[in-house]
Amino acid sequence: MFRRPRRNRQSETIRLLAQETTLSTHDLIFPLFVTEGTNKKIEVASMPGIYRYSSDLLLKEIEECLQLGIRTFALFPQIEESKKDSHATESYNPEGLYLRTIREIKQKLPEATIMSDVAMDPYSSDGHDGLVQTGKVLNDETLPILAKMALAQARAGADMIGPSDMMDGRVGYLREALDDEGFTHVSIMAYTAKYASAFYGPFRDALDSAPKFGDKKTYQMNPANKREALIEGELDYNEGADFLMVKPALAYLDVIQTLSENFPIPIAAYNVSGEYAMIKAADRNGWLNGEKAMVEMLLSIKRAGAKIILTYFAKEYALLCQRK
Ligand code: PBG
Repeated sequence: MFRRPRRNRQSETIRLLAQETTLSTHDLIFPLFVTEGTNKKIEVASMPGIYRYSSDLLLKEIEECLQLGIRTFALFPQIEESKKDSHATESYNPEGLYLRTIREIKQKLPEATIMSDVAMDPYSSDGHDGLVQTGKVLNDETLPILAKMALAQARAGADMIGPSDMMDGRVGYLREALDDEGFTHVSIMAYTAKYASAFYGPFRDALDSAPKFGDKKTYQMNPANKREALIEGELDYNEGADFLMVKPALAYLDVIQTLSENFPIPIAAYNVSGEYAMIKAADRNGWLNGEKAMVEMLLSIKRAGAKIILTYFAKEYALLCQRK
């Protein structure tokens, strides 16, 4: 036997030399939830260790994360039911929770990079990502609303916008709207292959943003499809997206690989709420070692071809790196 693969596994040092994939806190984006009020920190029942923060405590959390080496944050708002309407008008109200919070973060912690969410669902009385009329989610009529939202976020100081709505043509539409107002420097991280997934359950609990009727299958992708992700990728790439995202991550590693092999821009993967909840639940039951499962899962997402991972584990991973 000349070729003995075990030689490269014989010690921690040699294993590290032979290690193909590494994971740094610089690869991570931490999703955060903001809610109204002051001095509030409310745990999301289905996401142990993840909280909805009022903006004052959110700032403290971001400051702590910055010190741990996490620099980018994807912010999502929990909007009061009374402020929701069919046209998501609260989404571009400059005095609304979300835009106020972005301004405050960028003012007090300018070194934090903020990725904002562009989709109607947190503000929509229908709980859908697009405009609903007679039971249908309209595409072209949604685009101007998304553009108002994206512009308001750019004015508030967002560094990167994340269209998560899956309407056709929105990346190009938003790019043009941003450029027309002089926001050529604001990046777009496109939710390119976003699947109609059961793994978003805990997130919808966190924001009370579940659809009021039906599901999201007429705009989010069919979990059975991979080749279709190439169409979405080509559109977003040609419409000027700076990053292409796959979401969820763990059940879609093949899609991550396909996009990373076909497009020369960085690929991101969203390690979603349900993926976080699964590991936390099993860990709490003593069924597996949550910390080890976390590292293995995050590494597998990078190995598949993601450069960036949006994950609720970001802070926990950064703390683990600090202990080592
Ligand atoms: C909606 C949105 C969702 C998530 C991010 N933006 C849920 C959905 O599409 O219903 C899910 C994130 C997660 O589960 O962690 N625009």
